[in-house]
Amino acid sequence: MKKIIALVLALTMLLALAGCSGNDKNVLKVALSPDFAPMEFVDTSKKGQDSYVGFDVSLAKFVAEEMGMELEILPMGFNACQVAVETGSVDMAISGFSWTETRAENYNLSDYYYAGDNETEQVIITVKANEGAFPSAESFSGKKVAAQNASLQLSLCQSQLPADCEIVEVGDLTTAFLQLKNGDFDALAVAKGQAEVFIANNPDAVALSGFEFEVDEAYEANVILMKKGADELTEKVNAILAKAYEAGYYEVWYNEALELAGAGTAEEVTLPDE
Ligand code: ARG
Repeated sequence: MKKIIALVLALTMLLALAGCSGNDKNVLKVALSPDFAPMEFVDTSKKGQDSYVGFDVSLAKFVAEEMGMELEILPMGFNACQVAVETGSVDMAISGFSWTETRAENYNLSDYYYAGDNETEQVIITVKANEGAFPSAESFSGKKVAAQNASLQLSLCQSQLPADCEIVEVGDLTTAFLQLKNGDFDALAVAKGQAEVFIANNPDAVALSGFEFEVDEAYEANVILMKKGADELTEKVNAILAKAYEAGYYEVWYNEALELAGAGTAEEVTLPDE
């Protein structure tokens, strides 16, 4: 009798273990860099997985739900998000990625998704005292302008600002905002939506520089990054994006994200990019 009980117990444990690893396969791992309100940032009134908020988090939840999977958000630096997709340590990165030629070469990119007007324009912000002082690209001559590394904004700086403008690459935007206020550089290139959130939250410290990049339409929406060759997954994701678009969720998610970004508990956090 005892032997039978022991056997039954052992079997139950085995089944439980098998169940666990089965569950693991049912987790959708999504990388994001929560330094980019209103797309992804942190609600400091919450803890753990619940603390990640913003448009992309709503989208990630929807994707996981539609795939019948449990969502696990892995917060990391913006550059690290791209590496994580490449190495396969996550299934995808949903972090306000613009479509770019280089990314199209190196990853499977989803169809476009539209997060309000966050990236319909790309601007440069500066300290309040210099509001509007930079009306043209040439006005950045001899100045220091920062942009996030491996970002669209960085390549816009490189292609549109004068040769004698010093372009500073920053790892994360949270620190970059502090550095801008601190006078470490003259200006910072950011998506218009993020600029608006940042200025609204710091009206006495920062302002628009007066300059706006010329941006090709191809860069105005966002895409989800997946591993090169993950065609089946990409197809699934595209179908889910189409569904969200048709249901009108993009607008709902963007408005929710904007509201949260203006709340006192919003914070954009710094994560190491190793
Ligand atoms: N859209 C820009 C890009 O693709 C900036 C994205 C930044 N995202 C972030 N979570 N920091 O490069």
